[in-house]
Amino acid sequence: MKGLLASYTFEHMEIASYTILIAAANSVGEAEIARVCEQNLREEEAMAEWLESNLPQVTQTFLTRAEADSDSAKR
Ligand SMILES: [Fe+2]
Repeated sequence: MKGLLASYTFEHMEIASYTILIAAANSVGEAEIARVCEQNLREEEAMAEWLESNLPQVTQTFLTRAEADSDSAKR
């Protein structure tokens, strides 16, 4: 769960970083750099969306396993 939280957080840091780089590249007329950063930004957004869509299922799996571990520890 901590790994998933860290990954989701990190993807959003990358999204913000590429958004800043695109703005900076555009402001100094570096169209090719902006284009590459936009391509990377789309990949980061896709990964963030994938992680977000899997958060509920991973949470459910974690809780199920934690409960099973707790039950076996009581025996
Ligand atoms: Fe990423």
